[in-house]
Amino acid sequence: MSYLPPAVRLDRSAQSMIFDLRRGAAELVWLGEPLPADQDLLVFCNSARQARRPSQPDEPAPFSILPQTGRGYSTTPAVGLMRRGTLLPLHLRLVEVAQSPASLRFIHRDEANGIGIDVSWRVLNSGVIEAGVRLTNFGSEPVDVLGLASLALPLPSWASHATRYSGRWAAEMQQTRVRLADGGIASASYGGRPGFGGGNWIRIESADMGEDHGHAIAAHLAWSGDHWLSVECNADGRAMLMMGGRLDPGEIKVSPGQSWESPRALFAVSSQGAMASRHAFHRHANTETLPDSSRRTPRKVHLNSWEALGFAMDLPKLTALADAAAAIGVERFVVDDGWFKGRRDDRTSLGDWMADPDVFPAGLKPLTDHVRALGLDFGLWVEPEMVSPTSDLYRRCPDWCIHISGQDRPTQRNQLVLDLTKVEVSDYVYKCLDTLLSENEISYLKWDHNRELFPLAEKGHAQVLALYGLLDRVRAAHPDVEIETCASGGGRVDYEILRRCARYWASDNNDAIERLRINSGWFDFMPLGATGNHVGPNPNPITGRCLPMDFRAKVAMFGHMGVEADPASMSASDRALLAAHITLYKEWRDVIHRGSLTRIAENLPSAFGYLALSGARGLALVAQTKFADHYSSPPVKMRGLDPAASYRISLLLPGTPRSDGRVAQTELWHSGTVKTGLELLRAGILLPDSGPETAWLISLERVA
Ligand code: DGJ
Repeated sequence: MSYLPPAVRLDRSAQSMIFDLRRGAAELVWLGEPLPADQDLLVFCNSARQARRPSQPDEPAPFSILPQTGRGYSTTPAVGLMRRGTLLPLHLRLVEVAQSPASLRFIHRDEANGIGIDVSWRVLNSGVIEAGVRLTNFGSEPVDVLGLASLALPLPSWASHATRYSGRWAAEMQQTRVRLADGGIASASYGGRPGFGGGNWIRIESADMGEDHGHAIAAHLAWSGDHWLSVECNADGRAMLMMGGRLDPGEIKVSPGQSWESPRALFAVSSQGAMASRHAFHRHANTETLPDSSRRTPRKVHLNSWEALGFAMDLPKLTALADAAAAIGVERFVVDDGWFKGRRDDRTSLGDWMADPDVFPAGLKPLTDHVRALGLDFGLWVEPEMVSPTSDLYRRCPDWCIHISGQDRPTQRNQLVLDLTKVEVSDYVYKCLDTLLSENEISYLKWDHNRELFPLAEKGHAQVLALYGLLDRVRAAHPDVEIETCASGGGRVDYEILRRCARYWASDNNDAIERLRINSGWFDFMPLGATGNHVGPNPNPITGRCLPMDFRAKVAMFGHMGVEADPASMSASDRALLAAHITLYKEWRDVIHRGSLTRIAENLPSAFGYLALSGARGLALVAQTKFADHYSSPPVKMRGLDPAASYRISLLLPGTPRSDGRVAQTELWHSGTVKTGLELLRAGILLPDSGPETAWLISLERVA
């Protein structure tokens, strides 16, 4: 239904939004808890309207979901367009609203410039709101898009803080809380992928926001290329969040009569703290995003060869590794980098996607047969978007890489990026993958991407679309093959690639202490079942830190568990401990992956705590990284339980051997103890006195 009333509201998923439309723009005046059905919209809009301030235009510019500078809006506009090298003086007026029960489409027109912009917001069943923008050129000459925000969100008055998620290789998603008034926020990526900078994720917060109280808006740009993000604060105290795909000038040209759609932005609004926005994103991933097959089937335990063998692989070593993996309960064996023609280190061979005849004289079949005879799935590492200058492919087709004619070709990790926007290049890559998957029993691809796309040569956006096309083609031909997205760890993680990938590689850093920090950032948006989480070697090859197996295994259970070390090189007791945790993971993975994830134990110094709750069962992890300041730790309070119900709680074995003898409540160890939900919520439980690098698993089962 299309119309232009003075105001419009949308109520869905326990939230309401109200827009004042009377000034030719959609001004968001309410976004949050549900409002009464009989709320008088105009009374509401009138009381939300701000008076004119000194030093403002006589008619202050609307603070809308499509902010434009032409009428005196004094911060970054949502849209910038050029025609024939001249910036268009846009004046886009709201002319129509199309409404359905779950969505609003705000239709704007600038008749003089022949431009139309539709801003669409759709509330999904998960509660996540999907925002997108469609630009149409009604003029007679093409327009160049300089910038177009996928989301321009006028922030509610409670928005005073933000959590940012910045990082680097092996230290992704580090959380920093900032005050918005201290200069706002701006970030962008330039490497042709979201990268490690984390600017495609943000959580806007009220000053008092905690895990289960206060206001939050968690927002994300669902796009696997470059992005920009800003939060700008006006002199009057209002703030605007904007995010979009970052474009180079000239990269997107829209011809007369044509339209162009921005990447989608996603956001979740909460008045119950970080918890509710996290739950909405996890629901969105688990029910509306991840490929069907990966949602239905249990997440199998991996063994990945990378930190076990590196490039030093051959058939006997791999079969021995697979035997050792099967013996501890692993369910999928993934051969990482190093298996293809001539690839003995990271300087050669990308693009030559056939098994190395020196290492695998009879191809991959003897290995896949062996692995499958052990009852394991077989997975393979590929990096299809890349080419090594030292490769048969490069020698044959030197100009298939992204480059600028006449300029040198700078490498990263000794490699270049294939130009997937060329049909013949995409076809070649598809054929290589199709042949591999058709000729071998491969049920899993780890799809890596280890360099940035410089020089972009104005191809950043088109390259991402070509990647989606390639992934879609591979998936259509091999629907049962699961794909993992990896980019030197978490360099390309977003909800658009997640529509095509069963999981993401969260970080190359398998040090359990670092992983607790890294994963706590990812878990604000990403579900545990899609988060690759491995037990690595000891000492850890990146940090050099040694940690007990018990601690490493428990941390790895809270994610999609895997092993990235050779079990045969472990002590017998470590191997047994790891196998016991794998068994436990299998017993609890439905809860860990399907349950709602809540943080607990924030009151324990240097501890990370989570509770996954699903129906009548729950599993909590409390992992303490440092030596405690006091002899007794404060109690750990649970969240999300029914206060009137009774729960049996147990400390799950295998326990922490180093804490034997320090357990005060011995009955908790084995048979468990029954407590009411109210007691667990209010008084909590006292964990045994723990040393550093100690982790506990606490099971909860509703008994009445
Ligand atoms: C980077 C990935 O993140 C690692 O896990 C591993 O697959 C290497 N690439 C292999 O080159």
